[in-house]
Amino acid sequence: MRNIISELPDKIGEEVELKGWVHIRRDHGKLIFIDLRDRSGIVQLVFVPQKGENGGVHAKAEELRSEWVISVKGTVSERPASMVNSDIPTGGIEVQVSEIEILNESETPPFPIDADGKDINEESRMQYRYLDLRRERMANNIRKRYAVTKYIRDFLGARDFIEIETPILTKSTPEGARDYLVPSRLYNGKFYALPQAPQQYKQLLMVAGIERYFQIARCFRDEDTRGDRQPEFTQLDLEMSFVDREDVMSLTEELIIDIVGKLYPEKRIQERPFPRIAYKEAMEKYGTDRPDIRENKEDSNLLAFCWVVDFPFFEKTDEGKWTFTHNPFSSPRKDFMDDLMQKRNIENIITDQYDIVLNGYEVGGGSIRNHKPEALKKVLEIMDYSEEKIQENFGHILEAFKFGAPPHGGIAPGLDRLVMILQNEPNIREVIGFPKTGDGRDLMMNAPAEVGPKQLNELGIEIKKEKNKKF
Ligand code: AMO
Repeated sequence: MRNIISELPDKIGEEVELKGWVHIRRDHGKLIFIDLRDRSGIVQLVFVPQKGENGGVHAKAEELRSEWVISVKGTVSERPASMVNSDIPTGGIEVQVSEIEILNESETPPFPIDADGKDINEESRMQYRYLDLRRERMANNIRKRYAVTKYIRDFLGARDFIEIETPILTKSTPEGARDYLVPSRLYNGKFYALPQAPQQYKQLLMVAGIERYFQIARCFRDEDTRGDRQPEFTQLDLEMSFVDREDVMSLTEELIIDIVGKLYPEKRIQERPFPRIAYKEAMEKYGTDRPDIRENKEDSNLLAFCWVVDFPFFEKTDEGKWTFTHNPFSSPRKDFMDDLMQKRNIENIITDQYDIVLNGYEVGGGSIRNHKPEALKKVLEIMDYSEEKIQENFGHILEAFKFGAPPHGGIAPGLDRLVMILQNEPNIREVIGFPKTGDGRDLMMNAPAEVGPKQLNELGIEIKKEKNKKF
């Protein structure tokens, strides 16, 4: 039966069977050392030249090259004191190999896998992502991301939240960024949109009486990519009924503090409870609404969280019209509800929006919502939406709110950004299995790609060749 490498320190003197990849091969005269890698770690294999039956084992080890896949049997032994490597958990042991089978050979990889890979051209790393993910740093990032995700699911599950999947094929509505569109085959000329966030669905789930919803949700926004932005990314999306902003903020804070305490004990949270900064103060004092308040920016284990609150609800567009600063669904703070309903003092209305900022990155945002249809409608009227546009884009939610919508609010921390900072990585591509390049391409799958005339024809689409053709 196969053993995994991480269990070997407890098996000294025992016969084991290992399967994995050749990480490094070192020839020391007659002895051959192989570092074998599996999902759980690395261990040193020793091949001693022998006469007779086992002689072939050493000869086979001579053939081995990096990234070949092998199966070995052997005995776990302690290393001599002078050979102990205290940097790795298996550094005190090695395996004396008695049998070997080559399961698959490998071509020479296009780049080394046994280092952190930070100096390798990123396009090459993305093209061969399945090799890049073999490196310890990347494998660790992906595993830690899963640990964070699982922690979130367990934490919220234990507090009566349920995870509900919401549609990926949905409808384009004005929510801030540009939508990705999917043409409909059955209704030529009509389009689905990929969700920028499950915002409207989660509010409709509150109308549905769910009360406590969450989702590890994929979101899609067709905007310029940068280090902390991808065209598709993941949110921990949550929504609760019968809450005020204190409830949502304290739940989020408890969850994050728990994640750090349990999964990142080496890290220190600068201040708890997380300090709160009003938007106006943040702009005056730091010149940004995502201030980096770390007292020491050299310390890679310092986490300086803060909340930014009391945002203005509306701002003027270039055309001189009012638009929302965050999203149209937020409620005003209680003191400003009358102003909203009377459509007066608009520039001073404060929204019940809260952003969570970590080391200068916006890692989440949420708000208490307008659950009364007439209040939501006022927001849309202030933005000068015509009755027709209101019905077309928001008719379904205004209608739903007529049927006893409970007061509700929520938040959506960006999982990629949170894990990026926790893992001390410089950008979110390092914590996403298969990210896109800065210009929105998947170099491994070669997407986006052209499609054939048959597919286009079914969709009723003709391509204007000269326009926007990048490649
Ligand atoms: P918002 O648009 O502020 O709010 O998004 C919430 C969080 O998602 C992360 N994020 C991104 N991460 C990577 N790439 C992107 N392109 C990207 N865009 C956003 C950020 C951000 O703080 N529906 C509301 C939430 C709510 O009100 O409940 C929303 O989507 O960390």
